Amino acid sequence: MKSRIPTIIIGLLGSVAIAAPSARVDIAPSVIPQPVKLDSAIGQPGFALTGGIKVHYRVSRSEEGAAAIRALMAAGITDVLPEESEGELQVGIEPGKGREWYAVNVTPEGIQLKVGSLAALHLAAQTLAQSIVTDAAGQPALPCMQVEDEPMLAYRGLMLDPCRHPLSVEQTKKMLRIMARYKLNRFHWHLTDDQGWRIEIKKYPKLTEVGSRRDATPLLTDHEASDNTPTAPFFYTQDEIRDVVAYANSLGITVIPEIEIPGHASACIAAYPELGNDDIEGYAPKVATTWGVLPFTMAPKESTFRFIEDVMAEVLPLFPKADLIHIGGDEAPRDQWAASPFAQAYMQKHGLTNPGQIQHKFTHRVAEMLAPHGRRIIGWDEIMMDGSVPPTAVVMAWRSWVKPDAALTAANRGHDVILSPDSHFYFNFAQGHIPADPAYTPHGWVEAKQDWRHVYSFNPKPAHYTPAQAARIIGLQANCWSESIQNAPKLEYQVVPRICALAEVAWRPAELRNADEFLQRIKAEYPWFKEMNINFRHEDGTPALPDAMQSPGI
Ligand code: ACM
Repeated sequence: MKSRIPTIIIGLLGSVAIAAPSARVDIAPSVIPQPVKLDSAIGQPGFALTGGIKVHYRVSRSEEGAAAIRALMAAGITDVLPEESEGELQVGIEPGKGREWYAVNVTPEGIQLKVGSLAALHLAAQTLAQSIVTDAAGQPALPCMQVEDEPMLAYRGLMLDPCRHPLSVEQTKKMLRIMARYKLNRFHWHLTDDQGWRIEIKKYPKLTEVGSRRDATPLLTDHEASDNTPTAPFFYTQDEIRDVVAYANSLGITVIPEIEIPGHASACIAAYPELGNDDIEGYAPKVATTWGVLPFTMAPKESTFRFIEDVMAEVLPLFPKADLIHIGGDEAPRDQWAASPFAQAYMQKHGLTNPGQIQHKFTHRVAEMLAPHGRRIIGWDEIMMDGSVPPTAVVMAWRSWVKPDAALTAANRGHDVILSPDSHFYFNFAQGHIPADPAYTPHGWVEAKQDWRHVYSFNPKPAHYTPAQAARIIGLQANCWSESIQNAPKLEYQVVPRICALAEVAWRPAELRNADEFLQRIKAEYPWFKEMNINFRHEDGTPALPDAMQSPGI
């Protein structure tokens, strides 16, 4: 008889599902980010997980049931199996709730999930995965608990940069797994930059033949010196991109690709020099072998716009769920446009009074290209410099030093804003004076001390924002640039546990957070970090896997 199999019920209600209660549970669930409401009953039997979770047949055949099984399995609850049985269950979505709202009710007899949409199943599944404890008999169990939860901010992201140093598909997936555990839902994939073009575009093979390798790389210990060693080509094939995007989707994460326009484009221009300002003196583009801001910008030619359109025609189908397409837009120098007779004539023809307005032509043209495909552009906050931006553009505010505040400027102009200030969310920056820290090198970032406590101190909706301004802040993102990070263990050291702090800052209002209490929940994650073989940063700054950090890279 199947009645003693633990059952998961999806939807509004269900028949009583009978399960074997666990032994007494004495450990309270510890969840990051902290749910809005979490009540647990300790000192009594919980829901036994010894035999895995069997999902009721009729539930598992419904769309919601199948999605729940997938979400639970993706969250690492592996013994989730559709189970044939007779029974009456209703399956449904809780009406009138937000897209990411969910509620969980665990009793010794079963688990009930209610969700605002299928997207929230991933959030519920991660809460369950984090809540698994050991019962008094040493077996896995869930405490009896009720959770009702939803995030404060809709966009919770991490940006990774495989341009300066490569990151394998497998390691990228591991980062996605870490993101999903803490309910981040956007992976911003920085796929093109001066030092490498990393995405296969079939119509333009030289982008990867030429643009995915470079002649040398600055030394990790001294960014002014070179290793004088050519790199191997590195790029993601379209099949690999599809694979990563599908994996991310299976975890409830949307991938936002970034194609840098019009600056940070040396690799692209080295591959196809006619895309750049080829009428200036001494023009000799090459894939960059130094860090920082390079002079090469795209030229405002119709052929360049056609190139961008062709690239987007291949990019968009690879990212079918990406409502936003990142067009870069940061640090685009104006010098080549000022020196180029073609760019000068273009300015005259279009009545432009300063070369910076050429960037706006790019921004508007790309926004117009993408709009018919239902995609909005998102760009670094420099897209607002020197003129107007399409009103639908999302602004990613990173320059924390500019006055007036870039985020407020964007909000006041009616843009949705993602905050990723380099004062708090640049995970490549040092976390303190610890020699193991990749950023602990004499190249100017040493003074940053963005440890998890600093990340946690951030308030995305400070009191001086008006309600209208605060409403424009739709999300947070951490960026982990890779100039100093040549291997995955170093990346993990920079990201974990700062990512936990980012997740909770995006989830809960500042006044409900307490760093000392949060530290206990970070420590409760150490066993999972170890199970995942993550090179996390201990509280004293030491890395979990110091030897792994010495590897030369992929
Ligand atoms: C940036 O850090 N250049 C966005």
